Amino acid sequence: MRVQNLILSLTLVAGSMATEADLLTRARGVFKPIPLDQAELMKLIDNPKNPITPEKVDLGKKLYFDTRLSKSNLISCNTCHNLSLGGVDGVGAAIGHKWMANPHHLNSPTVYNSVFNFKQFWDGRAADLEEQAMGPIVAEPEMAATEMMVAHRIKASPEYVEEFAKVFGDEEISLTTIGKAIGAFERTLVTRAPFDEYLEGNQSALNEQETRGLKLFMDKGCITCHSGVGVGGTMFQKFPLMGKYKYENVGDFKGNENGLTKVPILRNITQTAPYLHNGAVWTLEEAVEIMAENQLGIKLSAEEVADIVAFMGSLEGEKPKIELPILPNWGPKTIRPNVN
Ligand code: HEC
Ligand code: HEC
Repeated sequence: MRVQNLILSLTLVAGSMATEADLLTRARGVFKPIPLDQAELMKLIDNPKNPITPEKVDLGKKLYFDTRLSKSNLISCNTCHNLSLGGVDGVGAAIGHKWMANPHHLNSPTVYNSVFNFKQFWDGRAADLEEQAMGPIVAEPEMAATEMMVAHRIKASPEYVEEFAKVFGDEEISLTTIGKAIGAFERTLVTRAPFDEYLEGNQSALNEQETRGLKLFMDKGCITCHSGVGVGGTMFQKFPLMGKYKYENVGDFKGNENGLTKVPILRNITQTAPYLHNGAVWTLEEAVEIMAENQLGIKLSAEEVADIVAFMGSLEGEKPKIELPILPNWGPKTIRPNVN
């Protein structure tokens, strides 16, 4: 009797070890870790058309935090993509110049790991981070500046002029070079998480519930759309794929020209509420339920939802250390702020 029990429990342990190893192998076929090795990481994040250099990243960081890129001198990239708050603003629809809400009621996605998106924006209309960064500066509901205004403000500051010359040589100070510097900075905003250690082979990096959640995330079919380094950000898909999105009346976003939405990355998703393109969903549990219903046509039990949410906790990464930049002084002839 005892021996039989022992054999039984040994078989069970061996069996569950086999399934766990199997899960890891399957996960490795779907996701890729953010490499610890700097050379490997550079292969993933660098842009040959705008190579990352320490000086460029430093300049980009200044510009990212510089409110003087906005018409009012009050709004920076960090206003809506707050690096202390998961790279988001925590409101449903983004709020910009003159307290204007995004006209389509769009929610600010996080800038952390956005380098792993194959395209930028909910509808993927920007090819990369450099192109993306030029948009909000001159967008009326965001920073509301003009190309001429920002170039003038930078050129009026001798310190900035010197830094731009160091980084870009003869290339003119313009929205393009500003976009390049900010883009290079954003490329460094990657966050390694316990899930990366798991993918590298350390199965204890995920606890039991997180492991169950990972298994559900794979078995239920979330990985048809959310895969790769970012656990998303690799394709366009229809949303809702089936049924009706219960908050479809919030805003009027309809996806790209084909009615498709970029599948968002899920890294740090525990820190970026509210959820979905219109920021109408405040809990991760509800977002997961909506995904199950509208994208997979299934209903998950409360336990299954809790397990998947636990798995998402393992995607919460360590943020790069960012020293608050001290920005160049005002130039004597700079364009004054206009809050109207
Ligand atoms: C007023 C708030 C606001 C400001 C200011 C702002 N953004 Fe955004 N950002 C948004 C919103 C809203 C979106 C989504 C809009 C869309 O998809 O059409 C977005 C999208 C993005 C994305 C795409 C991420 C993804 O997952 O697709 C990046 C990257 C980004 N912003 C970076 C920046 C940078 C860099 C700046 C400063 C130059 C900036 N943002 C200024 C609100 C803002
Ligand atoms: C058919 C493709 C598809 C499948 C399957 C799918 N998703 Fe999504 N997911 C999307 C798209 C597209 C969005 C963005 C929808 C929007 O806001 O317009 C999204 C958004 C999300 C969000 C919110 C992200 C944010 O930044 O607000 C979460 C969380 C999420 N999915 C989790 C899951 C989970 C968990 C599953 C499995 C139960 C799943 N998804 C299955 C395509 C999919």
